[in-house]
Amino acid sequence: MIKFDFTYTLSDNVANGLTYDEINSFEQQITNFLTRFDENKPGFVNAVLTRKWVDSVNELSDFIFTFDNIVVLGIGGSALGNIAIQNALRPFNWNSLSSEERNGYLRVFIVDNVDPDYLSSVLDCINPKTTLFNIISKSGTTAEPMANYLIVRSILETHGLDPKEHLIFTTDSEKGVLRRIGREEGIRMLEIPPDVGGRFSVLTPVGLLSAKAAGLDIEELIIGAREAYERTIKSSLWENPAALLATIHYLHYKKGRNISVMMAYSNKLYYLADWYRQLWAESLGKMYDNEGNRVNVGQTPVKALGAVDQHSQVQLYNEGPDDKIITFLRTEKFDREITIPKLHENEPELAYLGGKKLSTLLNSEQIGTQLALAKHGRPSLTVSFPQIDEYHIGQFFMYYELATAITGELFNINPYDQPGVELGKKITYALMGRAGFEEFNYTQNVQKRVEIE
Ligand code: PA5
Repeated sequence: MIKFDFTYTLSDNVANGLTYDEINSFEQQITNFLTRFDENKPGFVNAVLTRKWVDSVNELSDFIFTFDNIVVLGIGGSALGNIAIQNALRPFNWNSLSSEERNGYLRVFIVDNVDPDYLSSVLDCINPKTTLFNIISKSGTTAEPMANYLIVRSILETHGLDPKEHLIFTTDSEKGVLRRIGREEGIRMLEIPPDVGGRFSVLTPVGLLSAKAAGLDIEELIIGAREAYERTIKSSLWENPAALLATIHYLHYKKGRNISVMMAYSNKLYYLADWYRQLWAESLGKMYDNEGNRVNVGQTPVKALGAVDQHSQVQLYNEGPDDKIITFLRTEKFDREITIPKLHENEPELAYLGGKKLSTLLNSEQIGTQLALAKHGRPSLTVSFPQIDEYHIGQFFMYYELATAITGELFNINPYDQPGVELGKKITYALMGRAGFEEFNYTQNVQKRVEIE
């Protein structure tokens, strides 16, 4: 299992840390919450307790493996999990490998923006004839994936290709324009469970299709997640990673640590921090509590990469405002190892490195950063992967989704909605001339502009 180390969040080891009493005071509330939660499981849990979603992706295997590339078009929860999985479980140079080197599995491109330079350069890398386009949108109304869909569809048509032989829509089972077009045209479709919101959907067909296309073991992703859930439901507070993650983040927030940094000491794990950023921000950043009181709560998630950001961020973390709790991600086993050559043995600044493993240097730097933070009175915790594989990545997703739900309970807010995203979407619709949204063209409302060229 993934190992969680909360040592440096406690007052024993860090100034202004947490006492056991403070943490224990939430035990009953969390036990009651988890009992109710298990009796009335949310969609993201049910999604890993069934084979339905894995099977729905497996059924498309024959079709998927006729292609050389998959291009995923989605945004937010319809993209970040895919990006995290691919970066964690496929080598950096995956898309540069030949088909033989990839064992026939597909190159994977995930386009989650409407930047024309970015999309153009991805399209430059692929031949539409050998490319599968997976359009992911739960609502089927989000401007960014819809714009990108229209662009790739037009490219397929321009090349004389039949869109339905190059598209898979991943969308709501009933609602939305993608479902409607898919039905009318006989396009292959995957369902996003109706009760699973975007940022909780990585272990549904949203994240599973591109994982399958890249040759990853999607069953192991699900098994890891399921075991994380079972452990969470069965365990008491001090044996319960999700409950402790929630309680410790909540209590540090109450002490003024309103920023949660996730710092990965592994390039492969770095994109988990991106996925976490959305999960923590959109789920917990809320104006109103469950009783309708205005609370404006939320802890700002920040991502960082070790050792790189030791030379960019750690000065601030140690000596700046005491407003952060840091989570380190590390792995005990890298896929590949490099031993630093013994050169310049008469130069003490270099000689100590010779013969050491690069992974030892990186993991020592993680410990060094953590201990330095503790000396400065800054709390941190560590999430260690025994190795980076499907099983442990699945666990990670589930533990953090559960921690988010439990933190929502502690904040007394709804972690599953995102009303604060809506207004910006409506203003964009107005600016892009979508009928029915004219009243949101707020550009007219500015009293006085200040612009400098
Ligand atoms: O978590 C969420 O619900 C959002 O981030 C959505 O995933 C994002 O807005 C994309 O929505 P959709 O999948 O409907 O296009």
